[in-house]
Amino acid sequence: MAIYEIKGGKPLHGSVTISGAKNAAVAIIPAAILVRGKCRVENVPDISDVRILLDILRDLGAKVAQPEPGVVELDCSNIKKTHPNPELVRKMRASYYLMGALLSRFGRAEVALPGGCNFASRPIDQHIKGFTALGADVEETEDYVNLKPGMNGLRGNRVSLDVVSVGATMNIIMAGCLIPGTTIIENAAKEPHIVDLANFLNTMGANISGAGTDTVKIRGVTLLSGGSYAIIPDQIEAGTYIAAVAAAGGNVLVENVIPKHMECITSKLQEMGATIINYDDSIRIMCDKRLRNATVKTRPYPGFPTDMQAQICVCMTLADGVSRLTESVYETRFFGYCSELTSMGADILINGKTAIVTGTQTLHGATVRAKDLRAGAALVIAGLAAEGTTYVENIVYIERGYERIVEKLSALGADIKRIEE
Ligand code: UD1
Repeated sequence: MAIYEIKGGKPLHGSVTISGAKNAAVAIIPAAILVRGKCRVENVPDISDVRILLDILRDLGAKVAQPEPGVVELDCSNIKKTHPNPELVRKMRASYYLMGALLSRFGRAEVALPGGCNFASRPIDQHIKGFTALGADVEETEDYVNLKPGMNGLRGNRVSLDVVSVGATMNIIMAGCLIPGTTIIENAAKEPHIVDLANFLNTMGANISGAGTDTVKIRGVTLLSGGSYAIIPDQIEAGTYIAAVAAAGGNVLVENVIPKHMECITSKLQEMGATIINYDDSIRIMCDKRLRNATVKTRPYPGFPTDMQAQICVCMTLADGVSRLTESVYETRFFGYCSELTSMGADILINGKTAIVTGTQTLHGATVRAKDLRAGAALVIAGLAAEGTTYVENIVYIERGYERIVEKLSALGADIKRIEE
């Protein structure tokens, strides 16, 4: 088991390059199942979730090559299996995309229920609702979802989501690609990675319009035949480095970002007193004084992302005054990290969906445990900002989603080491 040792209290300086978006990559890789031909995907982050997905595709019979760092070539033409390795599937959340992709390409799929970060109950009823509306016969067991065509076969249809779900939106987009007729998703999620998935599929030959709005239309086509595509930069990885500078202080150029995707995060940090300068594809953040308190409520895009809740909470623990942080997507997310921050000297009171955070002058080093990906990232930020040494355990969660985090932070002047225990 490895841990991170962080000697905190050093401001961050220099530049950091953001990797390709995790939540786009983990959808685009399974989406390659829809393609008969070679897909070249660039800007793929080297993170454990991606490595697991590539193993799943290899096991299904795909050809997978990695000709250079950040580039993956996938050829799923000869896949025959519709039953991905359940042990690999259970290692991550986004393996649920195998359902939509296999269903669309082969008309059937037998997929274990996904694993991954368990910061809340994470139902997939809206995914199932979508598959059923498209004519699939869905059998759910305790640990499996089995999909096959229903009596009237698979056909595009209208699906109105009861909750705005990123995963269900992307899964239904994939499912609709290769089946006859038109699928219309209403109340769709609008996250940048949904647009990225649709752009990838359209590049391969799909006919998807409206991604990024709340109505997405997928006209079924008979063949997706391959091409080349570059994944967008990771909004949340960029937000994490920006929050790290806000909490620990410093002056950093965050490169390879789409500033428009960052507005929901940077506008809050600006309000809290950080200086933010937007360029075409980079953002400079400068912070040399104590932050101000803020009120933040997480919401689906373009709102403040739930995946940045924990990181901004660290900023609030060090801000002047009392902040209010309300979670509206995953209510139980506070439990993944607030007690760890409290052990570092933070003052956080959880009242239902809201954390009331009273800023303190300093956090102090402690031994803390990552319980999920973003909670883990927040503990790293807290360690960077704290006085003394912090040990972050269970970093396997962090390495699911952050490429070379130790190298990137070290290059900014942080004193962080990965230690094999
Ligand atoms: C994705 C992201 C995750 C992020 C989340 C919200 C990936 C791999 N993960 O997760 O990092 O935190 O979006 O931005 O991209 N819900 C249902 N039924 C469903 C599906 C969702 O009730 O069938 C609820 C969830 O419990 C939650 C809300 O809808 O309250 C949003 O979930 P969703 O957007 O689906 O999250 P994920 O796709 O699992």
